[in-house]
This record gives sequence, structure tokens and C-alpha cells, in this order.
Amino acid sequence: MEKIEYSKKVMQHFLHPKHFGEIKDADAVGEAGNIKCGDIMHLYIKVADGKISDAKFKTLGCAAAIASSDVMCELVIGKTIEKASKVTNKDIVDYLGVLPTLKLHCSVLGMETLHDALKKLRK
Ligand code: FES
Repeated sequence: MEKIEYSKKVMQHFLHPKHFGEIKDADAVGEAGNIKCGDIMHLYIKVADGKISDAKFKTLGCAAAIASSDVMCELVIGKTIEKASKVTNKDIVDYLGVLPTLKLHCSVLGMETLHDALKKLRK
């Protein structure tokens, strides 16, 4: 089995996430899961004046999934819905610097959770 090594930045977001938690009166809650590993993400977003004013996450998953969730929140706070919808898993990976190949799907899970939240917001 390949040994997984995480960068300092991934470990920092995993051990000290800034956006972990729940927003009680969220405008939308996105959810996504990965059937293979069983990891599940929830993203809570709050919108004010057409921009994402706050974002928090709760993720049951690996270090890369937790770091990706935290970075995803960081990337969308302050963005318009339109701009937030263009955030991809590549943006998450670029922000983290590097993710082990085996863990790239964790950043995809982050993007899917965001897109689910934005879809619910539009309804
Ligand atoms: Fe599945 Fe990380 S191992 S999201």
C-alpha cells in the first residue's frame, strides 16, 4: 500500500480548520459523499448582498477531505454566487499546493458539495 504523505499546508488545514462548524440559519446546505471511501461533506452557506458572507463545513472523512473542505470555504467567502460556482477542485489543490494523487478525489468531493449547495440556493 502506498504511503500517503501530506504537505504542511494540508496538515495545517486538517489540524486547525478555520471554517469547521455549522451555520444554524444557513441559506443553503450542500451535501456530497464518495461511495468508495464513505466520506461525507456538508457545506453551510450564508448569502448577503449577492455574495457568500459565510461558509462552514462538517466533514466525516480523511485529512485531505477536511483540508479541502476548509479551503473550499476560504475560497468562496466574499465571492458572488456566479464566481463561487466557477471554483473547481483544481483551485482547491492549487491553494493547498499539492495533494497526493490517491487523494485528489477528496478535492473533487469539496467541489461537488459546493455545487450542490449553490444548486439548492438557486431553487
Ligand atoms: Fe475519500 Fe478523502 S479518502 S474523501
